[in-house]
Amino acid sequence: MVHQPGYDALADLYADMFPASSTTPLERHVVAAFAELVLDSAVGGVVVDVGCGIGHVTADLAHRGLDVIGVDPSREMLAIARSTYPGLRFDHDDAFLEATDLGGRGIAAIIARYSLIHVPPTDIPDVLAGWAARTVPGAVLAVAAQATDEAGEVAEFDHAVARAWRWHPDRLAGALATAGFDEMWRTISRPGPGFHRFPEVHVVARRR
Ligand SMILES: C[S@@+](CC[C@H](N)C(=O)[O-])C[C@H]1O[C@@H](n2cnc3c(N)ncnc32)[C@H](O)[C@@H]1O
Repeated sequence: MVHQPGYDALADLYADMFPASSTTPLERHVVAAFAELVLDSAVGGVVVDVGCGIGHVTADLAHRGLDVIGVDPSREMLAIARSTYPGLRFDHDDAFLEATDLGGRGIAAIIARYSLIHVPPTDIPDVLAGWAARTVPGAVLAVAAQATDEAGEVAEFDHAVARAWRWHPDRLAGALATAGFDEMWRTISRPGPGFHRFPEVHVVARRR
């Protein structure tokens, strides 16, 4: 299990800085579209919010009717999630999902917002292969990440909390496709003052 001491130390500050589940209308609409796609997919099982942090996207998805759990390697982020949303399940786990016991139920869909950025790029193929192994054809996947405009690149950047890497959107979509998740659509938002420092990408894909 990976440790994220930076997120543990800054969990309260994070909760103060990000009181809502989305900071932009685009992010909000991507979460809504993801939920709609999952409900329409009729794939049975649990939706997993990987790197759920303080749990507000998990709660948003539950509110939209999904059977969802959140997982995160930071115990302090999880403590806030559990106290804020006592009716929801939050597990201590990282992106490999090796500690998450679903009692024989499958994974219907996965959302990973700004959490795969913290997984070393060399581990990403194994993480995605694990997700493919635990999902069935038709399962929906949504990944959000800071992006780079440099074609083909994955670049480490000076994230304030933990080591992190930005992905070129094509490279991210390519990694998903290699693992068996074909891109349906993507969004890219440009950086701006008081907004975000880097381009940001959402890729929404479906398990082949
Ligand atoms: C920027 S926060 C995003 C939280 C949440 N997904 C959201 O959109 O509000 C990144 C989260 O990823 C988690 N994280 C860090 N490393 C991770 C890993 N290897 N696997 C899964 N989650 C990780 C952190 O603990 C943190 O809660």
